[in-house]
Amino acid sequence: MTLTGRHLISINDLSNEEIELVIEIADQMHSALERKEQLHYCDGKELYTIFYEASTRTRSSFETAMHRLGGTVVSHAEAQTTSSVAKGENIADTVRVLEKYADIMVMRHPLDGSTRLAADHSQIPIISGGDGSHEHPTQTLLDLYTIKEEKGNIKGMNVALCGDLRHGRTVHSLAVALARFGAEITCIAPEGFELPDHIRNALKDYKCKLTEYKSLEDVDSEGSLAIHHSKGKERHQEGFMNFLLERLDVLYFTRLQRERFSSREATETDQESYRINKQLLAMSREDAVIMHPLPRINELAYEVDQDKRAAYFRQAGYGVPVRMALIALILGVVQAKPVRGVRTVPGKLPEEIPGVTCSNEHCVTNIEGYATPKFYRDPHDPQALKCYYCDWVNKRIDQ
Ligand code: NCD
Repeated sequence: MTLTGRHLISINDLSNEEIELVIEIADQMHSALERKEQLHYCDGKELYTIFYEASTRTRSSFETAMHRLGGTVVSHAEAQTTSSVAKGENIADTVRVLEKYADIMVMRHPLDGSTRLAADHSQIPIISGGDGSHEHPTQTLLDLYTIKEEKGNIKGMNVALCGDLRHGRTVHSLAVALARFGAEITCIAPEGFELPDHIRNALKDYKCKLTEYKSLEDVDSEGSLAIHHSKGKERHQEGFMNFLLERLDVLYFTRLQRERFSSREATETDQESYRINKQLLAMSREDAVIMHPLPRINELAYEVDQDKRAAYFRQAGYGVPVRMALIALILGVVQAKPVRGVRTVPGKLPEEIPGVTCSNEHCVTNIEGYATPKFYRDPHDPQALKCYYCDWVNKRIDQ
């Protein structure tokens, strides 16, 4: 199996071997970039980027990647207002037109499952640049590349995922990938912002060791620390914080995704509950790595930037070689040996179930009228139907 001509919508569209191949080719691209070589793998090829949501890193690193590979780019930002979507055009028609203009497309869209729907209607490969709060697979590829660069390995690492784990799409793809590569996961998320069910179930399937906490409070004026364990409200003193931080190899922070909040969430959230600053850094391991997909808001104090463990700007930089590797592999322009095949959701193909719709109000099937909802049956729970587009676990009550 090769990556040529394939879509990348979910991190589970790639097998572990394929992820390793992307990382290996990214290494070669990284070296070429360091030698300031202009590559010609993509001479005569065109990348179309269409973004219906704001972006600084994802869109520009994809575009830089294509330029470095010798290809050309059509860049369509703010598509929510500047494309015919503003006149009522749907996703399917949009991609059926854009496929005529380019060889490969990157799409970011605010609806969960939107990029899968786009891929289902496209003759050219579509790479997701993030779909709502669902997934962000290419961010995960560069996150894994960063962990490898900084720590040498992924297996056996204890990675803390801190922040809005419910709406944050980067951590959804990353948690699954970490579990698949044998990392341990520690979650630190404010109440109500924990990982969604489908990610939790996936981690269970991969037998991932998962520990969860509700907050990582700042050092108070006397220098004491507290952490609320999700199973109780007990306050732990500094010794416990030391114990926790001493065990973490990677601290991966994310912002609260306020644009995806309900009005209740907007008023009830303690945005300071997982902030990292100098004092917490002082208790972390000397070889810890601090990561963040960016943009940061309050969760990462500026004073952390000076520390050698702060890897987030290096991480953003790795977006270019990783995306170069991905584009080159999908366009089939680099020599790569075939590796073991596509990883898919276990069990049968998704089914249409008459009368059943997805209960996630942000699922693309609830907005784009022509999109037929499809579900996977959960082998462990006959009442559960997992949406093919957004992975939302729907519970059936009529059986
Ligand atoms: C993230 C995204 O868009 O999901 N940014 C990124 O791609 N680096 C994270 C975020 O917006 O918080």
